[in-house]
Amino acid sequence: MVRVVAINASPRKDQGHTGMILKPFLEGMKDKGAEVDLFYASELKVKPCSCGHLYCWHKSPGECIYQDSMTKLYSAAKNAQILVVASPVYSPMPGDLQNIINRFVALLDPVLEFRNGRTRAKLRADVQLEKVVLVSGSGWWERENVNLLAHVIKEFSENASITYAGTIARPHIYAMRTSEGISPEGEKVLLAIRQAAVELMENGEFSQEILDAISRPLFSREVYEEYLG
Ligand SMILES: Cc1cc2nc3c(=O)[nH]c(=O)nc-3n(C[C@H](O)[C@H](O)[C@H](O)COP(=O)(O)O)c2cc1C
Repeated sequence: MVRVVAINASPRKDQGHTGMILKPFLEGMKDKGAEVDLFYASELKVKPCSCGHLYCWHKSPGECIYQDSMTKLYSAAKNAQILVVASPVYSPMPGDLQNIINRFVALLDPVLEFRNGRTRAKLRADVQLEKVVLVSGSGWWERENVNLLAHVIKEFSENASITYAGTIARPHIYAMRTSEGISPEGEKVLLAIRQAAVELMENGEFSQEILDAISRPLFSREVYEEYLG
C-alpha cells in the first residue's frame, strides 16, 4: 500500500483555499488505495533549526536536538512513499512550513555527493520517501507566481535525491468561489485536481494536460488589469 504524508501549511487549515484544493487531491489518492496522514503546519509546534552545526548529521545521526512535533512528522515521513506539501504562495511560503523543511535535514544521510554539477544528499536508509508533490494556490492572476515556491520545494526534493513529481498550481484561486460557494468552473478545477491524483497513483506522474487544466485562467488578464485599476 502507498502511504502518503501531507502537510497543509495554510494558517486557515481546511477553511482556506489551500484546504479546498488539497481535499480532492488527497481523495483522489485515497480512491486509488493510498493511506493518507495529514498534518496542519499551524497545529504543529516546530522549533526553527538553530544548532547550525548539523548535530543531527555528526553528533547523533538522525536525531534532532529538539523533541517537538517534528518527532511525529519524522516518523510519518519515514514510513511514507509520497510527501504532499500543500501551501499558499506567501512569497514564497508561510514561516511554519520553512521551519519544517529545514528540520527535514535530520532525515538526510550526512554524505554529500557531487552529481551533474550539483551537491546532493540522499535520504537515510530508514526513510522510504520516493516522491514529493507541491499543491499550491495563489492570489495573483498569473501561474508564474508559484515559481519561487515550486523552485524551493523542487530543490528540497532533489537535494534529498527524491523525485519531484510536479506542481499542482491554482492561480487567482479566489475566482473558484462566489458568495454562494464554489463556482461551476471551480468545481471543474477540483475534478481535474482529483484526476491528477489518480494519474500520479496510476502512472507515477502528471500529464501536462491535467496540470494545464488545473492552472487555466478563470478570467482574462484584461479583466484582472481592469480590476487592479
Ligand atoms: C503574507 C502573504 C503573502 C502573499 N504573497 C503572495 C504572492 O506573492 N503571490 C500570490 O499570488 N499570492 C500571494 N498571497 C495570496 C495567497 O497566496 C492567497 O491568499 C492564498 O489563497 C491563501 O491561501 P489560504 O486561503 O489557504 O490561506 C499572499 C498572501 C499572504 C497572506
